Amino acid sequence: MTPLEIWHPFHQPAADPPPLRIARGEGACLYTEDGRRLIDAISSWWTNLHGHNHPRIMGAIARQTRRLDHVLLAGCTHQPAEALAAGLGRFLPRGLAHVFFSDDGSTAVEVALKMAVQFWRNSGRPEKRKIVALENGYHGDTFGAMSVGDDSVFTEAFGPLLFPVERAHSAYCHRCPVGQQRATCQIDCADHLAAILERIHQETAAVIAEPLVQGAGGMIVHPAEFLAKIRAACSRYDVLLIADEVFTGFGRTGRMFACEHAGALPDLMCLSKGITGGVLPLGATAATERIYQAFLGPEPDRTFYHGHSFTGNPIACAAAVANLEIFETEPVFQRIEAIAAIHRDRLAALAKHPAVADVRQLGTIAAIEIAAEDPGYTSSLKPRLYRFYLERGILLRPLGNVVYVVPPYAIEPDDLQRVWDAIAASLDFV
Ligand SMILES: Cc1ncc(COP(=O)(O)O)c(C=O)c1O
Repeated sequence: MTPLEIWHPFHQPAADPPPLRIARGEGACLYTEDGRRLIDAISSWWTNLHGHNHPRIMGAIARQTRRLDHVLLAGCTHQPAEALAAGLGRFLPRGLAHVFFSDDGSTAVEVALKMAVQFWRNSGRPEKRKIVALENGYHGDTFGAMSVGDDSVFTEAFGPLLFPVERAHSAYCHRCPVGQQRATCQIDCADHLAAILERIHQETAAVIAEPLVQGAGGMIVHPAEFLAKIRAACSRYDVLLIADEVFTGFGRTGRMFACEHAGALPDLMCLSKGITGGVLPLGATAATERIYQAFLGPEPDRTFYHGHSFTGNPIACAAAVANLEIFETEPVFQRIEAIAAIHRDRLAALAKHPAVADVRQLGTIAAIEIAAEDPGYTSSLKPRLYRFYLERGILLRPLGNVVYVVPPYAIEPDDLQRVWDAIAASLDFV
């Protein structure tokens, strides 16, 4: 019998190096089968928060496996899901009162989009079903999530099958869409979204945005005022705001949720990645009371007919509860601030390098946009840089010509400095 070959995500076997064979993880590091130590400077796709194999999360998983492996969440409930809902209630922005569990970031987004559209239908406004999304946005790889994400090499093959969305400018200050300078602008780029809503608010269900940092689109950091203006425009035109905090949630930006920087209260919030500390897959979509109320009633078609087999899996919920407990019992925000301080220092020094076009940072997220003849995700710099870092024991996956660092909060300062040393050295080589 021949074993099946694994089809790896975002991987081109004809060009990419073979996958790294990882045997174990500890703290901010991964160890290969042949004994190499790699600093996981991207937190395994931005999921890992407190280091690999954190004992509190692993212990919670072990205990839960002895009690209940899985049960459907339709018609049943269980303690880990309820404990997680209670825990999220202690951290989520005011106004979010209900949580719907799913599997990952893409499903958290699908759920939010469907809730937004059905909310208006249930409220007697079925014509409000358009979605407004941002340029450079990324929300996942399923069809709804791809539709609201900006056009890219990820979506190219599926363009004709995606539903149409209105696309508003994002605050990409380095390449300002309205030709302003950040030092003097009034966040004029946000006027585009307001103008779109003025034109089509009667048909629009929701605006979806990654609050403050557009991750896969190139680690684009927005001024907080941009999100505040989006919130204000949504409120003015009675359009729901979906905050996709799949990447930015759970401390990544220096606050528990990026929305907090702008004091913006979303109507729907999408969570995943760090929700379990990055250990098990779990998605969550939080909604306000107003939204939930619109789904109540005796008519069968008011119900939210959506659910995945593993919705609210008890083991994943137990991991997520343990993740929240770590926030409550360990100095997580001190670690976050220590990372942010190192990022700030190193970026300030590297900003002057002739190969650097822009530097961006918010909390534990830091990025350098390298001046390239072929900018973008498919830049020829990407494979060269990836190899360069790997040879130095560092796992970084540049987004084309954008090199970014998003480490686990447990990273040792020396290891983070080593990551920056390697990035500094790579700038001389590009
Ligand atoms: C902002 C955002 N939303 C949604 C997703 C999709 O999450 P997942 O890959 O878990 O489906 C991602 C993934 O990177 C993301 O960054």
